[in-house]
Amino acid sequence: MDSLIHGFHKMSIEERRNIIREFSNLSTEDMEAMDYRMDTSTAGNMIENVYTIMDYPVGIATNFRINDREYLIPMSLEEPSVIAACSNGARYARPNGFMAYSTGSYMRGEIELYDVPDPDYAAIKILQNKEKILKMANTRSKTLSNLDAGAKSIDIHYVNNELILNIIIDVADAMGANIINTMLEYVSGYIEELTGGKANLRIMSNLTTERVTYAYAKFDGKMLGAETVDRIIKANEFAKNDIFRATTHNKGIMNGIDAVLLATMNDFRAQEANSHAYASMGGYGPLTEYRKDADGNLIGSIKIPIAVGTVGGATKTSKKAMLAMKIMGIQNSNEFSNILACVGLAQNFAALRALAAEGIQKGHMKLHARNIAIAAGATGDMIEKIAAEMVSEKNISYTAATEMVKRFRDE
Ligand code: MEV
Repeated sequence: MDSLIHGFHKMSIEERRNIIREFSNLSTEDMEAMDYRMDTSTAGNMIENVYTIMDYPVGIATNFRINDREYLIPMSLEEPSVIAACSNGARYARPNGFMAYSTGSYMRGEIELYDVPDPDYAAIKILQNKEKILKMANTRSKTLSNLDAGAKSIDIHYVNNELILNIIIDVADAMGANIINTMLEYVSGYIEELTGGKANLRIMSNLTTERVTYAYAKFDGKMLGAETVDRIIKANEFAKNDIFRATTHNKGIMNGIDAVLLATMNDFRAQEANSHAYASMGGYGPLTEYRKDADGNLIGSIKIPIAVGTVGGATKTSKKAMLAMKIMGIQNSNEFSNILACVGLAQNFAALRALAAEGIQKGHMKLHARNIAIAAGATGDMIEKIAAEMVSEKNISYTAATEMVKRFRDE
């Protein structure tokens, strides 16, 4: 089934659910999960000091075709217009859609060694015993060993007077944090013996330069118009040369990526840290790139480190997060990373398109009008009526909404 669904935003919740059901071949149990509410005792087993559960809306981004497969993509966030923009961005990339490739799942764990009597001697001792260290680390995960994954190599560098040992670990379809930290803590005693130093921190790095995703799309030049194509390319150059703009540019990318991570209950803070550290490796800059092809189409690409898993993690604790994974039909962590990178690219393209053409406030405020109406006390039918009236009067503000609520109540 095609993910290019006309008028999805105008449908009722029931109609949307039926389309999602058919698209993703959902069972009755899956459909029930849409209305499932996690209870506070389950939540209390997830984190500490629970007193309630946060409500975040979850919507669907349509129009995505990635590596010749159609996707409906769940996104969860509080900001209006992001999902609409993302779906719109994906529409410009059709009929071919996005291409994406993820390099695999190599992650890096770090052991910080201080008071090492002779760091150069210690480095050689570590390297001479490399195979033993890797073997010891790999005893911590039968699953990874059986997959021929696990700890693979060692890298050493010096920071001030300290010796930093990095272990490179193939975490396969896991996000990797737990297994990496377990391996590091397990081998650190032996590393102390070898080096005569003391191990301080033993922790994964959230910068995953060996776990990177590439995505690419050709955005239709005719739909965009030649002027907008040129203005988007200029906007990207602006981001390359101005850190204030680059930050906002990348924030737009993360709008999409974080929303999918939230809908699937993944660690979006890890991804935020990863993305921004990577963007700063050659001096902070944009994570996307744009150019024009000979036919006037806009070629967009993104190269971004992404570390997400499809096994382990919190996803399985939440029926709704599991459902989100099922809606996308994700088979492994590479496919998940591909989706995230494409969403980031579509989101960034959509923001640049709007900014370079009509500006974002028009569309954004129109969608935000309903939020403002609710904040001013509107309920039921009143919300849509007040939002529409504010849009038509071109006065979308809390004050206008409050006056309208009062007037509706008095009528
Ligand atoms: C708003 O959440 C995101 C944008 O500011 C991104 C951008 O400016 O590229 C629209």
